[in-house]
Amino acid sequence: MKLRTIDYNSIKGKNVLLRVDFNVQITDGKILDTFRIEQSMPTINKLREAGARVAICAHLGRPKGAHVPELSLRPIADYMKIPFIDDCLRRDFLSDMHDGDVVLMENVRFYAGEEENDDAFAKKLADGFDLFVNDAFAVSHRAAASTLGVAKILPSFAGELLQAEVLNISRIMENPKRPLLAIVGGAKVSSKIGVLKTLCKMADTVIVGGAIGTTFNYACGASVGNSLYEPDMVDVAREIMKIAADNGCKFLMPIDKGVGTKFEPSAQRTNKSIDEIADADVIIDDGAMTTLRNLAEIEKAATVVWNGTVGMAEWGEIWGDSSFAIAYQIARRTREGRLVSIVGGGETVAALDATGVRDDITYVSTGGGAFLEFIEKGTLPALEMLVG
Ligand code: 3PG
Repeated sequence: MKLRTIDYNSIKGKNVLLRVDFNVQITDGKILDTFRIEQSMPTINKLREAGARVAICAHLGRPKGAHVPELSLRPIADYMKIPFIDDCLRRDFLSDMHDGDVVLMENVRFYAGEEENDDAFAKKLADGFDLFVNDAFAVSHRAAASTLGVAKILPSFAGELLQAEVLNISRIMENPKRPLLAIVGGAKVSSKIGVLKTLCKMADTVIVGGAIGTTFNYACGASVGNSLYEPDMVDVAREIMKIAADNGCKFLMPIDKGVGTKFEPSAQRTNKSIDEIADADVIIDDGAMTTLRNLAEIEKAATVVWNGTVGMAEWGEIWGDSSFAIAYQIARRTREGRLVSIVGGGETVAALDATGVRDDITYVSTGGGAFLEFIEKGTLPALEMLVG
């Protein structure tokens, strides 16, 4: 996919509307993870150095068209030490801007027209700008006013991060070194149906883990106790396994589990094989045998794509055990030059951080849903207007 890029020599003095994804966790005004912000800095800096006047447009959370003060982007403006514009439709600040200035505008999702991709709202958003730059790969699976609508109105270009995401993910997925192993964890099969089907057609091996793995175990007749799973996804799970079988893809699900008596970080951990799970058991992590099997599969792979932790990694060592083992193994093999690795999704990247191995991975995407949809379809709705 060839995206239109910015000619930095021609944008001095131009008003640039820059869409980024700053959808990061903020608690009590403190930003918990700055990864997405850091990854947007190359585009911001290049625009600034080229003398553009840059207004950053972003969203935070899902305020559904309402003004929700807790979802204000102000803490990010403070963190970046740039002026904050308290309404994304205000334009009075433009006349005060100088070449190289950068401001951050308030959460664009405070307007319902954003997610509805309303034409009139997109027009207001584009008003006053000479060009649009999309650097928000992580939200480019949403056909919104600030991702797609404005790109139909203004001359539009892909930013540095967007280009890097598309290039790196496409390069790895289109012509992977084989064997290609996909590891898919997380909570819900229902949110990953499309990508699981695609991966079962293209990968040599697919491993499912976490609560997703539990749903597959259940679809194969296992008892899953008092655990998180999706009983209504049984038919879909069987369909996915059939796609794998039809395409010669080895499909692996958990063979044992780390269980507790309650779904809490303080729960006592016991390891049980999948046929020992009792009615009162709560599955919280993949088990030790499953982890050993997964590590052996990573050892054999030449390319690994990983999305979704296989247990409650955010609860630390005890329940993050299986996910952390995967992170260490992928990192080690990549460091040794034996593996090409690609990782995406907020909680998965957090597991890389918890183990301190993010820098060892070949490519870490800022995308969650966008990462999955791009792997599934090879494109995203907001990219269509940037092709050329
Ligand atoms: C994300 O965090 O994955 C993106 O910012 C998209 O957010 P959304 O799922 O609320 O559209």
